[in-house]
Amino acid sequence: MEEAVVVVVGSGGREHALCLALAQSPRVTSIHCVPGNAGTAQLATNHQLDDTSNSGLTEFCQSVDAHLVVVGPEAPLCAGLADACNEVGIPCFGPVAALAHLEGSKLHAKETMTAAGVPTADYQRLDSNSDIDAALDTFASDPWVVKRDVLAGGKGVIVTRNRQEAYEFIQKSIKTDGFVLLEAFLPGEEASMLVVMDGTGFCALPASQDHKRAYDGDEGPNTGGMGAYCPAPVIDGDVRERVMKRIVEPMHAYLSSQPIPYRGVLFVGLMIDEKKDPYVVEFNVRFGDPECQVTLPLVTSDLFSMLYAAATDGMSEHNATFSDQAAVTVVLASEGYPRSPRKGRTIGGLDEVGESTSYRKAWINFAGVSGSQSTGFIASGGRVLSCTAMGDNLADTQKEAYKLIQQLSLQGGHFRTDIAHRALRR
Ligand code: AMP
Ligand code: GLY
Repeated sequence: MEEAVVVVVGSGGREHALCLALAQSPRVTSIHCVPGNAGTAQLATNHQLDDTSNSGLTEFCQSVDAHLVVVGPEAPLCAGLADACNEVGIPCFGPVAALAHLEGSKLHAKETMTAAGVPTADYQRLDSNSDIDAALDTFASDPWVVKRDVLAGGKGVIVTRNRQEAYEFIQKSIKTDGFVLLEAFLPGEEASMLVVMDGTGFCALPASQDHKRAYDGDEGPNTGGMGAYCPAPVIDGDVRERVMKRIVEPMHAYLSSQPIPYRGVLFVGLMIDEKKDPYVVEFNVRFGDPECQVTLPLVTSDLFSMLYAAATDGMSEHNATFSDQAAVTVVLASEGYPRSPRKGRTIGGLDEVGESTSYRKAWINFAGVSGSQSTGFIASGGRVLSCTAMGDNLADTQKEAYKLIQQLSLQGGHFRTDIAHRALRR
């Protein structure tokens, strides 16, 4: 197939990044985004479907003769969208529900890692019969890490030195969910590795680093991610080899031995300790957001071919290539994000910077943005957009991303001023 029609499911910065990268492919003739955002509207046709059930989505994909469905977020995967695509014979980038459970259930992820011998933090499962105080004593490695076993959009985890807070979160979670995980704290530096895989092979993309806390210096509440850069030097050649041997290879062996193999991207959230040993903090079954925005531009081979290969068990034949440049993205968030973002405000400066932006140099990834050039662009989400730059060295690239974001205005909007600080301090 030389003239591919692609459907991208989702509406965030990640999906705009996917559309931007797919639009570079000479093999892609049209992209449909469900529902998309103001950024994807510039590259794709956005569709607001009344019926977003699996059958509603697959019927839509059939109606546009889709050759490939790329699922951005985890929720439709956990709800079985890939299974539904398989049933109607449309290749889907994204795993079936049984495997998406790796993200949907932290307990399942822990059990899988134990079975596959993959290094991760020790944990205890606590329920209404457990002695919470005794468990808190066992894990008194300060701080305590408590994780709910539900898809909570980043709100299901607390890391705290406050025993009372840990106790209450455990108690509340047991009440609502039946059980909760208490986990040992892993010291070190975090990094994200995105591994595109199918039953026949895998390809690890250059590692990146997100900035999860809201404010400079990694202070403030956890967010979906306030900015990222790629590649992350914490994953040097030595560490990468350990990640491959101890984590990626055993996980791929496990995932490709399942009745339906994993077809999509496995997001490996890593903690690298001071001995350079990697541990898994979490698995996600999708591209990271905003990691996707800085990783995909560094893929110099055809992205459509890679995603299509993974959806059709062609990875063993696929050869991806990568740029040796660096990319940085800085997120502009609405006032009050992450606790209670103020939406509906006008974003200023987009028309003015529009002329000077260009993909793979300096450009904008739209996330929570609605409207259009003619009606004006409105902030419609917590994370509004991110300014991304790509260049030969990280320090100059960081400056370019900041040059872009400083030209925009959003009442009450905020962004971190230190994205990539760990790499630049080295
Ligand atoms: P998760 O949703 O599992 O990724 O957790 C959210 C964030 O909490 C991670 O990105 C880490 O910054 C932090 N975190 C989670 N688990 C641990 C752990 N065992 N040790 C240290 N930090 C953790
Ligand atoms: N940026 C982290 C995530 O997508 O989960």
